[in-house]
Amino acid sequence: MKRITIAEAGRHVGETVQIPGWLYNLRRSGKVIFPLVRDGTGIIQCVAVKSALPEQTFEMLRDLTQESSLIVIGKVRADARAPGGYELDVEGAELIQRVPESDPYPITPKEHGVEFLMDHRHLWIRSRRQHAILRVRHEVVRAIREYLDNHGFTLVDTPIFTPAACEGTTTLFETRYFDEGVVYLTQSGQLYNEATAMAFGKVYCFGPTFRAERSKTRRHLTEFWMVEPEMAYATLEDVKELAEDLIVYVVGRVLENRRQELATLERDTSRLERVQKPFARISYDEAVKLLREKGSPIEWGGDFGGPDETILGEAFDRPVMVDRFPASIKAFYFEPDPERPEVVLGVDVIAPEGYGEIVGGGQRIHRLELLLERLEQHRLAREIFDWYIDLRKYGTVPHSGFGMGIERFVAWICGVEHVRETIAFPRMLYRTRP
Ligand code: 4AD
Ligand code: MG
Repeated sequence: MKRITIAEAGRHVGETVQIPGWLYNLRRSGKVIFPLVRDGTGIIQCVAVKSALPEQTFEMLRDLTQESSLIVIGKVRADARAPGGYELDVEGAELIQRVPESDPYPITPKEHGVEFLMDHRHLWIRSRRQHAILRVRHEVVRAIREYLDNHGFTLVDTPIFTPAACEGTTTLFETRYFDEGVVYLTQSGQLYNEATAMAFGKVYCFGPTFRAERSKTRRHLTEFWMVEPEMAYATLEDVKELAEDLIVYVVGRVLENRRQELATLERDTSRLERVQKPFARISYDEAVKLLREKGSPIEWGGDFGGPDETILGEAFDRPVMVDRFPASIKAFYFEPDPERPEVVLGVDVIAPEGYGEIVGGGQRIHRLELLLERLEQHRLAREIFDWYIDLRKYGTVPHSGFGMGIERFVAWICGVEHVRETIAFPRMLYRTRP
């Protein structure tokens, strides 16, 4: 007898198969019971008829508790009304572990508070919505890799232990490192990408990054995943085009392959269908003007707050690209605009529907003298950046790249309020468990 997953049921109609899984829910109706079994690939309704089963098997199923593990045996039947399109007529079942009534599965179909659910995150990820979000996340990651791999980018992973700051010294997590003293958890792989781009042309890194930010917002994690492409011989305009193409591609792939999950999440997919080229492109100056018109107290020179990003995102029906920020609010490495040195060739992509900044990047300083000047202005020790400075001595070229935060991107695609639900085990200001 074949052992299959629920996702494969369609290829086994009329066959008797085994499905190993867990009891998601159970409905009883006298001499027939309907166990809902999940296996990670889907949920299937099983139909167990008393007269068709040994008494022991029927009773075992009838008294089964939520999340008990079992292998169901039965014949697959197509049923247009069934949630996944198929049902299983039960012919047998093997119990693996019965969850005892005395210590029942803590997450019941009733409403629980968020803190309770986060404390039980190791179990919560089995629930339908959480499961759907994490499947969308996987599709997003897969599509990003596919896009970059198919467009000439080489994956070069960058280190997590680093001696220097990339995004400012105030958000570094320190850790003791043998006799070297203190090292930091990486904020971004960018500086290393700049080195690998000079070796490989077009590169990307994709991994966890860390920010010791005391931000308790729905957009901030202390540990988040970022994909960072970087290109040699590339400008701000190249970065905008890549960000746009990548986002359109990834949204398209999710719409293609994760319809069912988006339906589970009750996502309004018409909003996602609109994510097509071209995205609106505005300057920081224009963004400030628009924000002030809409009542924001922002002044030229100030950074966007969360509410500002929300206003900007809601003003457009697809992501909007904002470029040329004041140099004073951006990291040390941004190339100034040659026509207006007080602004830099940086771009943020702001998602619609209030999801905030999903991409940040731009063109990097490639001239040695200017880099040295900026390091000094930002009080960054030259010795620590010696290797980074080398890149400006040995065949320096204009180069550009960006970082896209996976959790914010997934939150937007799924339409979930808070980034904490877009990663299996979120790390936040007040949460490092489970
Ligand atoms: O704008 P950021 O800080 O840019 C960089 O780190 C660049 N060095 C990237 C590069 O050019 N290679 O971060 C990039 C993105 C943001 O747009 C956001 O999506 C995400 O990373 N991000 C966060 N996501 C969750 N929690 C946080 N605390 C985040 N901080 C940034
Ligand atoms: Mg940013």
